[in-house]
Amino acid sequence: MENFNELQNEVLRLKKEKNALILAHYYVPLEVQDVSDAVCDSFAMAQKAARAENDLIVICGVRFMGESAKILSPEKTVLLPSPDAGCPMADMVTPEDVLRLRAEHPGAKVMCYVNSSAAVKAVSDVCCTSSSALRIAKSLDCEEIIFVPDVHLGSYVAARVPEKRFWLHNGFCPTHHKIAEADVLAAKRAHPEAVFAVHPECGDDVVKHGDLVGSTAEILDFARNTGAGEILIGTESEIVERLRRELPGKKVYGVGSSFVCPNMKKATLRALYECLRDEKYKVELPGDVLRAARESLDRMVNS
Ligand code: 13P
Ligand code: SF4
Repeated sequence: MENFNELQNEVLRLKKEKNALILAHYYVPLEVQDVSDAVCDSFAMAQKAARAENDLIVICGVRFMGESAKILSPEKTVLLPSPDAGCPMADMVTPEDVLRLRAEHPGAKVMCYVNSSAAVKAVSDVCCTSSSALRIAKSLDCEEIIFVPDVHLGSYVAARVPEKRFWLHNGFCPTHHKIAEADVLAAKRAHPEAVFAVHPECGDDVVKHGDLVGSTAEILDFARNTGAGEILIGTESEIVERLRRELPGKKVYGVGSSFVCPNMKKATLRALYECLRDEKYKVELPGDVLRAARESLDRMVNS
């Protein structure tokens, strides 16, 4: 068993010595979140990376998050402590898929969920996160939208932007996809007083039961601010753990068994420490991809 205190102190010392900015996603282990400068949903992470003044940025999350930080701050050194942490949903769409969809629907704009590779962003018109997707879809100047890769977020947005026609790709998040409607109904029966906060990466049959549908940060804010004393959470399990620690006066339950993103767990405290110590695992991207992807991400960050 690792001595977390010792490693945390070392990370804090190195962070100060190197003037590094550590950004963590809410799904990485809590002991990593605790030594980060900011814990973020995907939108806040991109914004903070774009505005960073530090020359060294460390992204505790998965590869597309490291790539987005590099795209938005290309002159900075961006490190990814878990270099083999991919996102299976991001891998479900390729630039060729996007080009084929564009050829099939020539009048449509391509909206690309930030959970995608830099190469896919480079052939898209605009990126979005779960917290910005609705706003961006409504504001796009077009009648048709090709949405990649998440079919669940895409159909959630399409149902709320009826004035536009949507063409959805068929990607999904394997972690959120495992949450079944039966889990939600059983949890609601077991905790009838609880309110339900759910991530839009879940299927429609799960999302329709949500009192709040939102990004990780929106789910946390809802749980903090609701008058309800019991909250059911439909997203990755680290959120349940974080809320239990943060809100000891409230009862926080996950639905079903625990839903874990194995890739987010690769950003361990030891991985962060060694990455910062050795300044290893730099995120690098070809210049043309970097420049083309930047346009789509800039539109998102400035939306
Ligand atoms: P958000 O933090 O933007 O809600 O994203 C969730 C997610 O699945 C990140 O991979
Ligand atoms: Fe990808 Fe899902 Fe993991 Fe997020 S939670 S990184 S979408 S697999």
